[in-house]
Amino acid sequence: MITNPFIINGEIPTEYFCDRKKESQNIVQMLTNGENICLMSPRRMGKSKLIQFCYAQEPLCSDYYCFYIDIYHTTSLREFTYTFGKQVFNTLKTKSQKMMLMFAQALRSVNANLGFDAVTNLPKFSLSLGDVRNPEYTLDEIFSALEQADKPCIVCFDEFQQIANYPEKNVEALLRGHIQHLGNANFVFSGSSRHLLTEMFQSYAHPFYNSTSMLVLRPIELQEYIAFATYWFGQFSKKIEPSVIEQAYRIMGSNTYYVQKTLHELFEQTDKGESCSIELLPIIIEGMVEEQSDGYRQLLSLLPDRHKEVLFAIAVEGEAEKVMGQQFIRRHSLASASAVQAAIKKLLEMDLITMNEGKYSVPDVVFRMYLQRLGG
Ligand SMILES: Nc1ncnc2c1ncn2[C@@H]1O[C@H](COP(=O)(O)OP(=O)(O)O)[C@@H](O)[C@H]1O
Ligand SMILES: [Mg+2]
Repeated sequence: MITNPFIINGEIPTEYFCDRKKESQNIVQMLTNGENICLMSPRRMGKSKLIQFCYAQEPLCSDYYCFYIDIYHTTSLREFTYTFGKQVFNTLKTKSQKMMLMFAQALRSVNANLGFDAVTNLPKFSLSLGDVRNPEYTLDEIFSALEQADKPCIVCFDEFQQIANYPEKNVEALLRGHIQHLGNANFVFSGSSRHLLTEMFQSYAHPFYNSTSMLVLRPIELQEYIAFATYWFGQFSKKIEPSVIEQAYRIMGSNTYYVQKTLHELFEQTDKGESCSIELLPIIIEGMVEEQSDGYRQLLSLLPDRHKEVLFAIAVEGEAEKVMGQQFIRRHSLASASAVQAAIKKLLEMDLITMNEGKYSVPDVVFRMYLQRLGG
């Protein structure tokens, strides 16, 4: 029995998953129609959870093999290949004995051993990173195995922009080459770096140009949260006014994780039989800024002063316009227009700021609040 229905860590069982009905229908339909998708949004908007939610829907959950590969931590083609192979094996293990064996045998280029775990007696695939000597070759074997699977496959590479940081320069072309020849697999490429993903998928010079449908994941709507939160507070004999939910939603800039986390705390601090007090809100938000501040401090320590100054200036303004103009420069005692320009370029690349219709802002609201407290 769950003690808090607003789950902030780990898997979210379907009944505790808020909304995303249209989005999931759309994604499932596109994938089953044979399209590949690039799913983008700022961090913590709910991409990874949405993909897993889609995997739990029909027909994906029964008629497909669905693989989810998070490549955030990978730094080379070798690690990519290793993570991919390992994850495919682990998924097949739970779905089909036959396919698992087929897959293990297909990977001839690695001396992986298929054995049995001494304790659990479950099949075990011992593959270590060092076994992947020739990643291009192994990758070829993985894709060929998927092509021969007895069900269609869906593969998600999460945090896909990571491949742009690998030392090997041909990874995009290599993957694109495989993917366009596969008849039995469709792909989701998802990630938070708008900057890198748009370049990969929408600039003419890149191999993935025009090869996938671009989807931008929007925030969950306020009305959906009101229904969701009211229901779950009610199930636990607690109450929450729509106006409290609305305030949390506004302050948190409708970011899925921050709204969920706020609801989690509000729920935690409301006793059974009681109604959630709006007075809790500022305390909870302060706590969230505090909780994140070590990480933020660390991040700031990595930035040169000139970049930091511009970041503070943007955060303090909320939405900053004409950042290269004399007024902005004077107002924030910045060095020069060219220094601002260089800082903006770097901050955009790091996704610490975003630009929308000429206005710059810090997309992570809690980070923005932190910067405002320090810089304001
Ligand atoms: N539909 C949802 N309902 C409730 N909480 C959600 C939902 N989607 C995401 N979350 C919350 O937001 C957090 C971040 O989601 P995640 O999918 O990891 O974001 P992203 O992949 O876009 O960075 C999750 O850990 C969860 O707490
Ligand atoms: Mg994610």
